[in-house]
Amino acid sequence: MFKSEIYIRRREELRKKMKTGLALFPGNMEAPMNYPSNTYHFRQDSDFLYFFGLDIPGFTGVMDFDSGIDRIFGNDFEMDDIVWMGPQPKVKELALKSGVTNTAPIPRLEEIVTDALSKKRKIHFLPPYRAETKMILGALLKENPCQMKTLASVDLIKAVISMRSIKEKVEIEEIEKSLDIAYEMHVTAMKMCKQGIREQDIFGAVEGIALAKGCGTSFPTILSINGQTLHNHFHGNILKKGKMMVTDAGAETSLHYASDITRTTPVGGKFSQQQKNMYEIVLQANTESIKSAHPGISNRDVHFIASKIIAAGMKELGLMKGDVDEAVEAGAHSLFFPHGIGHMMGLDVHDMEGLGENYVGYNDEIKRSDMFGLSSLRFALPYKPGHVFTVEPGIYFIPELIELWKAGGKFKEFINYDKLKDYMEVGGIRIEDNVLITDAGHKLLGKPIPKSVKEVEAVCL
Ligand code: GLY
Ligand code: MN
Ligand code: MN
Repeated sequence: MFKSEIYIRRREELRKKMKTGLALFPGNMEAPMNYPSNTYHFRQDSDFLYFFGLDIPGFTGVMDFDSGIDRIFGNDFEMDDIVWMGPQPKVKELALKSGVTNTAPIPRLEEIVTDALSKKRKIHFLPPYRAETKMILGALLKENPCQMKTLASVDLIKAVISMRSIKEKVEIEEIEKSLDIAYEMHVTAMKMCKQGIREQDIFGAVEGIALAKGCGTSFPTILSINGQTLHNHFHGNILKKGKMMVTDAGAETSLHYASDITRTTPVGGKFSQQQKNMYEIVLQANTESIKSAHPGISNRDVHFIASKIIAAGMKELGLMKGDVDEAVEAGAHSLFFPHGIGHMMGLDVHDMEGLGENYVGYNDEIKRSDMFGLSSLRFALPYKPGHVFTVEPGIYFIPELIELWKAGGKFKEFINYDKLKDYMEVGGIRIEDNVLITDAGHKLLGKPIPKSVKEVEAVCL
């Protein structure tokens, strides 16, 4: 945990923004895998972590914005628990770590909420994403659990997003720690990227580093020689010469801050001329997007900078044709780059996605596009100092998508469909880094992980 002052200050700031009502922050519970006591690795709710910091299942934080009292509801462990789990601190001691002096056992939560309901007080909560939390909130608020997402407090969502979007110094330090682990994960994957090795062996080594050095991965590792599938979680292939391996992997620190890095490595460690041609386009889109990042420019603008570099590069190789600006405006490049340039990152790898992407990355003036590719852009607003983003352009040859577009003659004025067959083996290439927006511009976070052709080939030697 951070020092208690951090949580006290955050709650004070939230109180100033919210002014009135009661806010419920249900922490996560243990989640069973296949029978009740065989649980998944516990992951605390990120908003509970942000305001209360306690990394233990079964607690709920409540803030009363009118009285100014914060409470933590939780049950003390009993001897039966202690026999299995070892000695455990009392809820009172734990709550003090987040600067909360008022605690009560879980059954008292229902009394407090029922009292607030009877007085018609506003009860704020964030959109729940786990079924159990929906059930608990539904029971407390006497509402249909299936409606809990739509009944969530927009005022609280917006207040929390405004705070969590701007990373504090201690949070940046955590993200950098996570990137130190990601460095090792990716360099290990590059060194193992040799003909005849199983993807699963590399996957295991990469995830093992995240477990050994931190709190595991920040999302299930994507590692595949079929990188054209954006989130490929199949690891059963054997590496073959001529293929490239996409590794999209990040760690979570013990305080649950994420990193999210992608590198693409040729099997055997040496790029063919064709792979290099394609890789250099993605690399240029990555480096130019990072260079352009500063307060005021929007993530949408940066998305278009990357998109134009990709379209221009594809035109130079003869895979696209016509005017680059017109092609990008029409969305023709999305055949090869069908996702957004990047997303916010922090306590969640897709930071605050559970609060609603359109609240995080869009507003009343800037609405999400429904155009293929651009519709996947998770954040379109201008950058502010303190924002942390991923920058992750890619080029992919997705056979099913190419077939569909080709059959329909889609954007045939911009795409040389006949040339694509020569490049299908390239599969997918993505290069992803994590960037902090500063007053002066930006800072690439973490120790630079090899990414130029020369650097990647040198690591693989
Ligand atoms: N790691 C998933 C992503 O890059 O968004
Ligand atoms: Mn990623
Ligand atoms: Mn990402």
